[in-house]
Amino acid sequence: MIKAAIVGTGNIANLHMQGLLTFPEQVKVVALCDIYPEKAEDMKKRYDLKDARVYENIDRMLAEEEAIDLVHICTPPFVHAPLAIKAMEHHCNVIVEKPMATCIRECDEMIAAAEQNGVLLSPIAQNRFRNPIWKLKKTIESGLLGKVCFAEINSLWWRGACYYDLWWRGTWEKEGGGPTLNHAVHHIDMLNWIMEEEPTQVVSMMSNVCHPNSEVEDISVGCVKYANRSLGRITSSVIHHGEEQGLSMQCEFGKIDAPFDIKAEVTMENGFPVSGGNKELVEKVKAFYEKIPDLPYEGHTGQIRDVLEALQENRKPYIQGKDGKRTVEVITALYKAAFLEKTVSFPITKEDAFYEFEGILKHAVRFNKKGKSVENFTEQRITVGNYQ
Ligand SMILES: NC(=O)c1ccc[n+]([C@@H]2O[C@H](COP(=O)([O-])OP(=O)(O)OC[C@H]3O[C@@H](n4cnc5c(N)ncnc54)[C@H](O)[C@@H]3O)[C@@H](O)[C@H]2O)c1
Repeated sequence: MIKAAIVGTGNIANLHMQGLLTFPEQVKVVALCDIYPEKAEDMKKRYDLKDARVYENIDRMLAEEEAIDLVHICTPPFVHAPLAIKAMEHHCNVIVEKPMATCIRECDEMIAAAEQNGVLLSPIAQNRFRNPIWKLKKTIESGLLGKVCFAEINSLWWRGACYYDLWWRGTWEKEGGGPTLNHAVHHIDMLNWIMEEEPTQVVSMMSNVCHPNSEVEDISVGCVKYANRSLGRITSSVIHHGEEQGLSMQCEFGKIDAPFDIKAEVTMENGFPVSGGNKELVEKVKAFYEKIPDLPYEGHTGQIRDVLEALQENRKPYIQGKDGKRTVEVITALYKAAFLEKTVSFPITKEDAFYEFEGILKHAVRFNKKGKSVENFTEQRITVGNYQ
């Protein structure tokens, strides 16, 4: 039986808990930890975990609990790296919430800690485990549509102004950034995963137009260029009514979207499109897509299941530290390009000021001064995206 602990028992910890409780034969939650221990106690009661012990700091938990196999880090981003590294140094495997860390240096340190201690590290990218995204990836991999030429990434969310009243949100120091880091992290992970190409350059612009109690951006638009000349456009927003998220991949022979849509043009002798397009290819792609089996578990539960199986089978998890780092690299480049108003080239090396969180903080544009700060909201319900 795998013994699991959750560190940070706020909103997202519920999805981790529900995921873990889906596999009672494989895993048991033995400890809950939060700097507000009453939140951990509430969670213990809510899920009726009679045997789980509650801690108010990770050091005590790791010292007193002898054999935790898997620690879920569900805290704000600025403590992901130090908490994950502590857990790994105690030979615990780690699932860490997105974003993996606030800078590339922290990602490198986390990856090194996993390697040195022989443990598994899996940053959350639960949206790969969603049918429309999974099937889009499989269809592109089939080669039916040719190479991806242009990816349009719409990470479009809506959050009320009070969203940023929570103590750690809306600050560069604690949240690490706005929706480019904290929301588009999902879509940038999908983009990296689907493109399978190395990004070479990034340009971007960002602003804060609707969230006065926040230093960070609430809208950004960036472009990524890849080694094979493909381009990607990423819009990261918390100002979009309707949250119409999606990916649109323009490939050589057709375009495919999530939510699912397929179009394919074919040329006349003069280069203009034939009316009605390439019906044969459209039908072929639809048939391929429809035959892909649904995932048995979606979202966090899908990723948690993969990690539990990886531990039992002594293999790497599907999503690893290097994937989380690639996402943080693209996000860092988007921030660097916007702050410096320059085209940024990859890689961002150790010599680059933006490799370190201090360098990002030094250059960060503070759009507003954060004034109001609340310790906790009463309302615990959250939503995690619209992928249908
Ligand atoms: N994957 C997703 O779809 C998704 C959705 C929402 C949030 N998140 C991520 O989850 C993380 C937490 O977000 P949230 O919305 O649950 O926030 P939250 O504030 O509701 O929960 C975070 C909890 O961590 C606790 N905490 C803070 N520092 C701690 C420490 N040093 N040790 C122990 N506990 C500590 C807080 O007291 C709080 O209870 C963030 O990284 C966020 O980006 C992911």
